[in-house]
Amino acid sequence: MVGKQGRQWRSVCKGLVLGTLLTSCMILFYCLSNPQIQHSLPDVPVPYSCAHRPAPAHSVPHPKNVSQQADICTPRVDVMFMKTHKTASSTLLNILFRFGEKHRLKFAFPNSRNDFFYPASFQRSQVKDYRPGMCFNIICNHMRFNAPEVAKVLPADTAYITILRDPAELFESSFHYFGRLVPLTWKISAEDKLAEFLRNPKYYYDPEGFNSFYLKNLLFFDFGQDNNLEPNDPRVEEGILSIAARFQLVMLVEYFEESLILLKDALCWEMNDLLFFKLNARKDSTVSKLPLELRAKALEWNGIDWRLYQHFNATFWKKVDIYGRERMARDVAEIRRRNKEMATICIEGGQAVEAGSIQDTSMQPWQPIGEKSILGYNLKKNVDKAHRKLCRKMLTPELQYLSELGVNLWITKLWGYIRDVINW
Ligand SMILES: *[C@@H]1O[C@H](CO)[C@@H](O)[C@H](O)[C@H]1NC(C)=O
Ligand SMILES: *[C@@H]1O[C@H](CO)[C@@H](O)[C@H](O)[C@H]1NC(C)=O
Repeated sequence: MVGKQGRQWRSVCKGLVLGTLLTSCMILFYCLSNPQIQHSLPDVPVPYSCAHRPAPAHSVPHPKNVSQQADICTPRVDVMFMKTHKTASSTLLNILFRFGEKHRLKFAFPNSRNDFFYPASFQRSQVKDYRPGMCFNIICNHMRFNAPEVAKVLPADTAYITILRDPAELFESSFHYFGRLVPLTWKISAEDKLAEFLRNPKYYYDPEGFNSFYLKNLLFFDFGQDNNLEPNDPRVEEGILSIAARFQLVMLVEYFEESLILLKDALCWEMNDLLFFKLNARKDSTVSKLPLELRAKALEWNGIDWRLYQHFNATFWKKVDIYGRERMARDVAEIRRRNKEMATICIEGGQAVEAGSIQDTSMQPWQPIGEKSILGYNLKKNVDKAHRKLCRKMLTPELQYLSELGVNLWITKLWGYIRDVINW
């Protein structure tokens, strides 16, 4: 009894210390690293299309005759990827990073950390080295979406894409990954915090609570909308329609390969642009499959996200029908075949391993507070020269890749260091 109370006290204290530290550090860092006054930035329109130097190796071969020409399209290189939380988006980021490097594209990166000061609304002044009138090809880090500001750093012909996930699963994942950053979960003393929370969410939830958006309609929140509306509020429908109007492709985690094929089709990419290994995946034993009753509760609690998901599930399958179901099945099989082949070529043991078994620190993924549940990979020792570079890139976790692309992550790193010191 005493032991249990002692432990609870310790964890509450840890939480308080950490919460205070984090908040004050973040406020300080925000002031230090964001000195410009945002309103003073003049509006200089960006060009219709941003300059970039196409990689010569991938220029389209000269068409030999007219009937062939119809099949040839030019890859779209201007992309806004709205990176939603807990939606396999790290895997997609890796794909975008490689695509950007291949075509030597210009990324709009955040400065000093790996997101655009989330959950603050996106401002173009947050973009690293931003000057008015400058334009970028790709923006893809976490942000709270803010359409007018985003449009000011991208050319007008940019393709907007994003990805959604079943809201019950997303809620489970977010609760697991971010729960400890949300103070209102600290007072839940039950063993199964998630079940207890869902049993009576209104009792525990506080819309004003610090970081509370992680636990209610996180997707809708990421799109810059109000996550605390009632699902039948007319503003919800408006929000969904504005997302539908803005994003030309909304992918689904549950149909990841199908989503990639639709992406390739929409942007005229090549099959090899879609190669991927699942990054940032969680150890199976830490994923709790929600029983039906809890799933129903989670969907009810995240009613807006559920509406959002259903809307884009419908549009997704319409797109698949237009693409052709059989053709889709063939292409998905082909991606899977190529990915499997790459796994054999690149990965020691052919599959993901736990953090403790990853030898190379540059391959260590970022872990949630309090555990090491995220899996990573070991690069094979003797990969042949033709594949070595690609293998390494495909296996590099998000933060390390960002560093390689020249993003300074001192805030993120300091936060990691503080966590290590407190031993969380
Ligand atoms: C033109 O392309 C079509 C389809 O690829 C092919 O069947 C045809 O033989 C080509 N004609 C010439 C003159 O190369
Ligand atoms: C998604 O759409 C498909 C095809 O219309 C349907 O079979 C499925 O039940 C839908 N899923 C959800 C979660 O709405």
